Amino acid sequence: MAMNYGNTMKLKYIPLLLIPLLTLVYCDSNPYQQGEILYNNFCANCHMENGEGLQGLIPPLAGADWMKNNQEDLACIIRYGMKGPIEVNGRTYNQAMPGVPELSGFEITNVINFINHAWGNDYGYVKYESVNNALEECADAEYGSSEK
Ligand code: HEC
Repeated sequence: MAMNYGNTMKLKYIPLLLIPLLTLVYCDSNPYQQGEILYNNFCANCHMENGEGLQGLIPPLAGADWMKNNQEDLACIIRYGMKGPIEVNGRTYNQAMPGVPELSGFEITNVINFINHAWGNDYGYVKYESVNNALEECADAEYGSSEK
């Protein structure tokens, strides 16, 4: 008898256990998940997982005014890198950033949409088409690379 009672109790709790589980799964469906994974693999070693960069050497992406004001350049920077002095949030940085040529236009779109919405940033959503157009333009511009 005692055992049967115990089993009934357990069954009763199954729906109660499912609710938090389903909530967890639902909340975890982050729309920028691929971008976040790519960011962590290709960018976080310099810009840090929290987007704050490295004092004096690597500019921040979190709350970065430069990023906010130069949205149309992001795709080409990610693919081809950048060098020369830039000012981000009132500080000057001057270290070369290497490009990440192995990322496709689609992956670059996902990275931009992740960094545009991470860490409290609210820099808008970019479409694959505009990223692709930007990449086509900089492929033969002076980005210093002959890669396509
Ligand atoms: C090896 C280190 C390194 C890696 C890896 C790297 N960056 Fe950078 N990034 C830099 C440096 C250094 C600068 C400043 C370049 C300069 O001084 O001209 C920079 C500049 C930037 C800027 C413009 C400045 C700003 O803070 O808004 C953006 C945007 C950016 N990086 C995004 C990315 C993204 C996205 C990735 C991953 C796809 C990435 N970076 C990977 C080092 C890196």
